[in-house]
Formats: sequence, C-alpha cells, structure tokens
Amino acid sequence: MSYPENVVVLKSNHQLKGLFTIIRNRETKREDFIFYSDRIIRLLIEEGLNCLPFHETTITTPTGCEYQGVTFASKICGVSIVRAGESMEAGLRAVCKHIKIGKILIQRDEETAMPKLLYAKLPSDIANRQVLLLDPMLATGGTVSQAVEVLLERGVKQENIVFINLVAAPEGIKIFTEKYPKVKIVIGEVDSNLNEKKYIVPGIGDFGDRYFGTE
Ligand code: PRP
Ligand code: URA
Ligand code: MG
Repeated sequence: MSYPENVVVLKSNHQLKGLFTIIRNRETKREDFIFYSDRIIRLLIEEGLNCLPFHETTITTPTGCEYQGVTFASKICGVSIVRAGESMEAGLRAVCKHIKIGKILIQRDEETAMPKLLYAKLPSDIANRQVLLLDPMLATGGTVSQAVEVLLERGVKQENIVFINLVAAPEGIKIFTEKYPKVKIVIGEVDSNLNEKKYIVPGIGDFGDRYFGTE
C-alpha cells in the first residue's frame, strides 16, 4: 500500500511483529500489554523525533578531531489526547528530558463514535514549538482531527505537528491526510478496516481500557 509522503509506517520486521502479536492477543494480561505497548511506543517516538527539523553543526571530539553532526533546530513539546494518549507520555519523557506536555481531553461517544472535546491545557508558547501529538489509535480520524483543530486555533502550523500513532485504519488515514496534508504521521501498523462499531480490525480492542485496566 502507498501513502502520502507525510505518512511514515514503521518498517516491519520480526521484532516489531512479535511485539504487535503480544499486544493484539486478547489473552495477553494487562502487565504484558503495558510492557510491550511501551516498547512499541518507544520505537514510534524515536521515529517521530526523526521527523523534526535539524541543522548541521560541527563539534570537536576528545581526540581533537572535528565531527560534522546535526542538532535539533527548534523547541518541541508533547500533546497527549487524553485518555489513551497519556500512555505515550512516559516514553516521550524517557527520551526528551524536561519536555513540556500539554493535554487535550477528547472522548469518542460509544454509540455514535463522534468525538467530543472536553478540555485542553497547552504550553502558552506552543505556537513556536514543534508538537508531537500522541494517541495510539486512529480509527475514523475524528478525534485526532479535533485535536489538530485545537492546535491550529492556538497558532501551531500544520507542518509543525507530528502525530504519533500505534495502529491506524486506512479510512482514518485517508480522511486525516486529505484534511491536514502537511501534518506528519508516524504509524506502527496499518490495519484492514473499521467494523460496524467503528473499531479497528483486526485491531487491539479498546486500547485505553486495556492499558489502564478499565475493561
Ligand atoms: C479512542 C482512541 C482515540 C479515538 C480514535 O479514544 O484513543 O482517541 O478513540 O477513534 P477515532 O479515530 O474514531 O476518533 P476514546 O474516545 O475511546 O477514549 P479513551 O482514550 O479514553 O480510550
Ligand atoms: N479506540 C480504540 O481504543 N480502539 C479502536 O479500535 C478504535 C478506537
Ligand atoms: Mg477508548
């Protein structure tokens, strides 16, 4: 399958597939679900950081030689879509010391699957930052679209947003990328489709419930 250029799907290998096999298995206990989801989240965040702008720099190594390297070109922050997106905050903090993390609370109606925005608290200077937007599930695309609208209203540019996501449905990718062609997306695996309840299949089930133990 081919995607627009701003969509990055993690390269599949036995290691990644093995991690997804564990978290997708309905028999997997909560502690393993958390442990192996966290491992995938870490890979996604590293890939997300790779999407950020950098500039070239030269440093001197302890041998007195010069090394042509790179350094991040701008300030970053995280924004998690509460609740399931909060599961990705620890992974982000583990690789970005002292990172500011905003929150947007959006809940999908369980009957209609329509998202409802309930709360947002974001860094005051967010318009001047690159934003790593966190939510493990991209189903219809309604939730992440509403979160992006909040960011745009606060002055964040589309091209300064990287959406980091574990599992996506093709329907959600299509809607979202057509609406926000400049937002970058990093995805762990793309699934087959949405079922009649707008759940991703084969999917993971309700990620938030499995991660936080509220099934
Ligand atoms: C889930 C998930 C996404 C959203 C995806 O959240 O974490 O935010 O649904 O669906 P969509 O693409 O169709 O909008 P949910 O509202 O179930 O809340 P939760 O985070 O508390 O599990
Ligand atoms: N939210 C989830 O947690 N899982 C889905 O499949 C769809 C939305
Ligand atoms: Mg949920």
